[in-house]
Amino acid sequence: MKPLLSEQIDKPLLEARLQDQLISELCDKGWSIIPDFIPSEDIEQLQQAAAELLRQDLFHQAGIGQGESHALHERIRSDHIMWLDPANTSGSLGRYLALLEAFRLLINRTLYLNLHDYEGHVAIYPPGSFYRKHLDQFQGDDRRTVTAILYLNDDWKEADGGQLRIYTDAAQHNYEEVLPHAGQFVTFLSSRFVHEVLPARRERLSITGWFRRRSGL
Ligand code: OGA
Ligand code: MN
Repeated sequence: MKPLLSEQIDKPLLEARLQDQLISELCDKGWSIIPDFIPSEDIEQLQQAAAELLRQDLFHQAGIGQGESHALHERIRSDHIMWLDPANTSGSLGRYLALLEAFRLLINRTLYLNLHDYEGHVAIYPPGSFYRKHLDQFQGDDRRTVTAILYLNDDWKEADGGQLRIYTDAAQHNYEEVLPHAGQFVTFLSSRFVHEVLPARRERLSITGWFRRRSGL
């Protein structure tokens, strides 16, 4: 059986070609979209891991910031999430976290962002769910610095909705739209880009997380 990219010890976790693309896009524009960041064999394993977590009923309704009412949450976002604990995550999800760790170190070496750690969750958007316009940094908490999202959905069509829309200018007149195709990896500066997830018409699966700096840096 062909070893998976993330298991090949004689190769760096991130291919040089992808490293260059990611870093130059993040540097030039502040956001990057890489269609086949993760090979399909690895995606399949991640899909299986997510399916197993779902079977175990480990997801819960996502919140927003602190202190808002449940009713308010539901008008803003309707996805279900399961936080990943890096110390207790093995298998394909653990290997994905190892890849993100390599990515964190690469960003620190090349963009001097001084990223300190990562927090992330698996997210599932049941049919009809969405996440209205928002920024990923919370009020009064500037730690989230780079958002990184990997999508896990096969055969996603435009008609399935669920686009991630990233507004690329401050006035929010221009945007990039991304379909949540399996293997596609999206990163952007968390404090700069307002974004939203349009209503998904079928179940939409992703792993979303944030590289964080220490508070106040
Ligand atoms: C988020 C988010 C986007 C997506 O979870 O903060 O914006 O495409 N997710 O899943
Ligand atoms: Mn977001």
